[in-house]
Amino acid sequence: MKIIITKDYEELSAKAAEVLLGVVEQNPRAVLGLATGTTPLGLYARMIADHRENGTDYSQIRTVNLDEYKGLPEMHGQSYAYFMRKNLFEGLGITPGQTNIEDGTAEDAKQECARYDALLEALPRDIQLLGLGSNGHIAFNEPGTPFGSGTHVVALAESTVKDNARLFKDISEVPRKAFTMGIRQIMQAKKVLILASGANKAEAVYKMVKGEVTEKVPASVLQLHPDCTLIADEAAGGKL
Ligand code: GLP
Repeated sequence: MKIIITKDYEELSAKAAEVLLGVVEQNPRAVLGLATGTTPLGLYARMIADHRENGTDYSQIRTVNLDEYKGLPEMHGQSYAYFMRKNLFEGLGITPGQTNIEDGTAEDAKQECARYDALLEALPRDIQLLGLGSNGHIAFNEPGTPFGSGTHVVALAESTVKDNARLFKDISEVPRKAFTMGIRQIMQAKKVLILASGANKAEAVYKMVKGEVTEKVPASVLQLHPDCTLIADEAAGGKL
């Protein structure tokens, strides 16, 4: 794993933007695997600013997102579909037809997972962007998820519900289940870029990079990826 430690979140976001823009410049038809969470917000703001200033073209880009809360429709203000539209796609002129995410309202969850598995096979990703859960999760693959997993429905860990409650009015509103891309599929991306910011990620960063490769720490699987870069700010990288 290539490791870049930055002095702060601003520098982390700038370095991450360099990597993402590099992929888009090299291949205007690239498939981008994207992530939600607060960590990529600075990166997304930079991509939008670059698009406005330099006209980087996203008209042929396709995107695939990692995960979605089960039960939330795409118009719901806390759905990941909504998050992506508001924080990235609208700013880059990316149309809904270019984007892919699990349908949180799908009645037949099994069928929805199979649909997403097939889609991921058909759309090999040039890059997969990831955030890191404080418990070492990637996407919504919680500790204990088999490394061979495909798209599945997960019962969120209590710590994840708590972490994500800050984005809801009340913790009781946080959905307890989610659809997530599996670990096997994260590993299939040609390139992986994982971002970590803040001292509350330091333990997870340490275990991901220096710990044993174990399903107890889902992100540790990235040690086995042939082209994975971690960008962490000093706070998140503090235990390395
Ligand atoms: C959620 C998402 C993850 C994300 C994680 C970290 O649980 N499913 O994909 O990486 O939160 O979020 P944040 O960047 O807000 O710390």
